[in-house]
Amino acid sequence: MKGLVLSGGKGSRLRPLTYTRAKQLVPVANKPVLFYGIEALAAADVRDIGIVVGDTHEEIRAAVGDGSRWNVTVTYIEQDAPRGLAHAVLISESFIGDEPFVMYLGDNLLNKGITPFVEEFVRTRPAAQILLTRVPDPQMFGVAELADGSVIRLVEKPKEPKSDLALVGVYMFGPEIFESARAIQPSGRNELEITDAIQNLIDRGCVVRPHLVEGWWKDTGKLDDMLEANRLILDTLDRRVDGSVDADSRVEGKVVIETGAEIIDSVVRGPVIIGANARIERAYVGPFTSIMNNVVVRASEIEHSIVLEDSVLSDLSNRVIDSLIGRNVRIMREPVKPSAYRFMLGDNSEVGIRW
Ligand code: DAU
Repeated sequence: MKGLVLSGGKGSRLRPLTYTRAKQLVPVANKPVLFYGIEALAAADVRDIGIVVGDTHEEIRAAVGDGSRWNVTVTYIEQDAPRGLAHAVLISESFIGDEPFVMYLGDNLLNKGITPFVEEFVRTRPAAQILLTRVPDPQMFGVAELADGSVIRLVEKPKEPKSDLALVGVYMFGPEIFESARAIQPSGRNELEITDAIQNLIDRGCVVRPHLVEGWWKDTGKLDDMLEANRLILDTLDRRVDGSVDADSRVEGKVVIETGAEIIDSVVRGPVIIGANARIERAYVGPFTSIMNNVVVRASEIEHSIVLEDSVLSDLSNRVIDSLIGRNVRIMREPVKPSAYRFMLGDNSEVGIRW
């Protein structure tokens, strides 16, 4: 069984973060989303993985390398433009050969991995196995209609969805999919849709097995979604304290503190992850917070938030909550008159002052 991870496309959502990095590299619980997919494949013993890359290929290659970190072999497959998920499948045909494969969309996250689904697919060996989950906004996804437990119809982003069952971005295919991907025409958004290719399998009388899952996330470009993904994953972490915690500090619950991080005279209440060489000093870090490498939180309180590398929060008089703070950001209270707000914010930034 081979793996195919789709990591091309354009990161038009999740701005401003994706102005400066590929959307598949946006971190969740201090780790790029893409890495969860690779880990899930490795855990299911899928070791020969192709990664489809586009404009952001340099960044993806630099982050993933040759895959040896996960004990997998990575082959990069270049896509000239985001022409659709079925197009990505077609350009990967020589890599896949006639083996069955798992396709994993690089911006999807499944908190419990994929091993049981892969095993079920290998055991029953349909032409395709799809994962579905109930969503409140099915018109944003591929939508499945089931009858007696079988898939009867799949429609990509329907205006009037026939069900609330969205296609999750993990698919298992036999080589039958190539003929179907060749048979379809580009959609209204001018992409070769994998949803249409799977519908073509159904039309040809091939077996498409559905499987319902929970604990799934995909970027839909909103801050709340990022925080939700972060909650989903932080909740699955095991406590591990490799950094230093001084005698005046309390570290409670599921907390990961990476090597070189220092907790000084502070309270850290999990689930929380604190990255390497971060410094938490006279501070409170509350539940569902991810603090990345080299961040300083000094004399401040923060919870239910994500702070990326090299940022500083210092001497803030109110608690920071529900926030996503990018790289190398400085938020500091300074004892200078006149008292005022002073900002330097990039495009699409958002500041909320709650009172
Ligand atoms: O996430 C689940 C949804 O993914 C499904 O419900 C939909 O049926 C499916 O079409 C897909 O919808 P999106 O429109 O949200 O897909 P997106 O354009 O975000 O692409 C998904 C991933 O695949 C992303 O990591 C970028 C990558 N990609 C995308 C395209 C169009 C490629 O590598 N090449 C491409 O040509």
